[in-house]
Amino acid sequence: MSNLINERVLRVHHWTDTLFSFTTTRDPSFRFEPGQFTMIGLMVEGRPLLRAYSLVSAHYEETLEFFSIKVQDGPLTSRLQYLKEGDTLLVNRKATGTLVASNLLPGRNLYLLSTGTGLAPFLSIIKDPELYEKFDRVILTHGTRTVAELAYDELIRTALPENEFFGEQVKEKLLYYPTVTREPFRNQGRLTDLIENGKLFADLGLPDLDPEKDRVMICGSPAMLADTSAIMDRRGFAMGHNGVPGAYVIEKAFVER
Ligand code: A2P
Repeated sequence: MSNLINERVLRVHHWTDTLFSFTTTRDPSFRFEPGQFTMIGLMVEGRPLLRAYSLVSAHYEETLEFFSIKVQDGPLTSRLQYLKEGDTLLVNRKATGTLVASNLLPGRNLYLLSTGTGLAPFLSIIKDPELYEKFDRVILTHGTRTVAELAYDELIRTALPENEFFGEQVKEKLLYYPTVTREPFRNQGRLTDLIENGKLFADLGLPDLDPEKDRVMICGSPAMLADTSAIMDRRGFAMGHNGVPGAYVIEKAFVER
C-alpha cells in the first residue's frame, strides 16, 4: 500500500515574499508526534516530487499545516508557492524525526532554539498540553533577519495564551524570545551570540544553561545547527538520538533547494 495520501488545500497564507504557510485536510490514518516531519509534495510530470516538512499543526488538530520558504528555482517550492485552495497536496503518512520530547531526559527549563523555518516543529510542540506538565518553563526563541519574518508571533503571543484548554499553562510557562539580525528590533543578534554573551538569560530573567537541569531542542540552517551544537557540546550537554534520550536534540530546518 502506498504511504502517499492526497490531501486538499484549505488555506494558504503568505507572510513575506519568501515565506508562506498552508493548511490541508488530514486523513485520520495519518499520525505523528509533536516535532516530527514527513515528506510532502506535488505530482510533477507524472511523478511525486517530495521534500521533508515539519508539521506545524498539533498532533490532535483535524487539519495539517506546513511552513515553507520559496526558492525561485527550487524544484518543489517554485511550484508549491502557487498552491491555492482546492489544490491537491501529497502527504506521506509516515512521520519521523528527532525533535520529540521522548528524546530528552527530564529537566527544568526547555529551550526551543530556532531560526527561519526552523520554527515549524516547535509550533507543533508548544501546542502539546503534555509538554507543560514536563517542564517548569518552555522558552521558544526565533531568530530571523527581518521583523516581517517573525511568522506566527500573533499565534504565540495572543492565541495560545487564550486557548480554552491549556492557555493557563501557556501563560505560566511559555516564554517567547524573537530576535532579529538585520533590522532594529527590541531583541537583536544571533541566538548563538545571545547564548554566549548571556544576554538571552539576562533578558528572560533565567539562570544560564545547566546541562544537569536544562534541555534544548535546536532547528535551523546547517550553519546554525553546527554553531549551536558546538556550544552545547562545549557546555557538557549530551546529544539525544532516537532511543537514547539526551540533554539536547537537533534537526535541520528543511530548506528547499
Ligand atoms: P544573520 O543575519 O547574522 O546571518 P537565514 O535566513 O540565513 O537562515 O538566517 C536566519 C537567521 O539566522 C538570521 O537572523 C541569521 O543571522 C541567523 N543565522 C544565520 N547563520 C547562523 C548561525 N551560524 N548561528 C546562529 N544564527 C545564524
